Amino acid sequence: MRSVTLEGHTERINIVLLGDPVAHSVSPAMHDAAFRALGLPGRYSARHVPPERLAEAVAELRHEGYRGANVTVPHKEAALSLVDDVAPDAAAIGAVNTIVRDGTRLRGDNTDAAGLLTALEGDLGIVPYGVRILLLGAGGAARAAAAALLSHGPASLTIYNRDRERAERLAVAMAARYGGRVRAAGHAEALVEGADVDLIVNATSAGLDGVSLPLDGLQPRPGAALYDMVYTPTPTPLMRELAARGTTVADGLSMLVAQAAASFALWTGQTPPTDVMRAAAREALDAREGRGE
Ligand code: ATR
Repeated sequence: MRSVTLEGHTERINIVLLGDPVAHSVSPAMHDAAFRALGLPGRYSARHVPPERLAEAVAELRHEGYRGANVTVPHKEAALSLVDDVAPDAAAIGAVNTIVRDGTRLRGDNTDAAGLLTALEGDLGIVPYGVRILLLGAGGAARAAAAALLSHGPASLTIYNRDRERAERLAVAMAARYGGRVRAAGHAEALVEGADVDLIVNATSAGLDGVSLPLDGLQPRPGAALYDMVYTPTPTPLMRELAARGTTVADGLSMLVAQAAASFALWTGQTPPTDVMRAAAREALDAREGRGE
């Protein structure tokens, strides 16, 4: 690990979460549990930063006191232009969720994509190569999911979003980078596709309220799988509906933990204690009784 001691003193590893809102985040619980488990002098704190203060908050990270940051809603895209260097994953997604300070330079990274791939393999045994996929959503989370999935050569990726134009824009942007296996679909077409695909990924926030479905009427074929990036309340409405039809389902907790673990590794250079982080996330989620990240 880099520079923990300084003139005989132990230097604290300060990490800050920049978001609006942040009060409900379980990230401090996960990272502080990881620091404790490894005996590292780290502290992860959440800071409420409205959009007009983001540039100032990122600039402060250049100070010696910080090792880095997480960036969350609604700042992930804006943060891309505020760092000095951008890692390939972050460039592909067009958003930064992790910042690492190296001297006075700031590097922007994105661990959401890797987090999704880790979760798909761990929870569902799925590696996206050659897989037919329906992706629900076209916001920041869907962007990370699309980049992650397309970088692993799926047979096809169809994007459905309530606001169809947004899905079209995402499909065009992703096709420009990854080629022609990605397209947007309207409601009827998404249902036809949904009956045929191997994997459905929900990257919308529908379900955080415990009742909304991102797409009504989905009838996956037997053997299909659902990864729902929503992790509270769980099981989500979509998980309940598709599980009743025999679909194998997983909620978003593993992705939440995996993206956090990948960020922790970037800041500390240490192997993250993912079981400890998962237990801390679950405990914090239970304590706050089901509000969404
Ligand atoms: P994030 O960065 O978490 O992806 P976002 O950019 O605000 O957040 O995107 C939220 C996504 O959830 C969008 O795809 C949104 O659909 P619209 O683009 O049509 O707004 C989707 N979403 C939110 N609530 C939804 C609901 N009740 N039903 C269907 N889609 C919903």
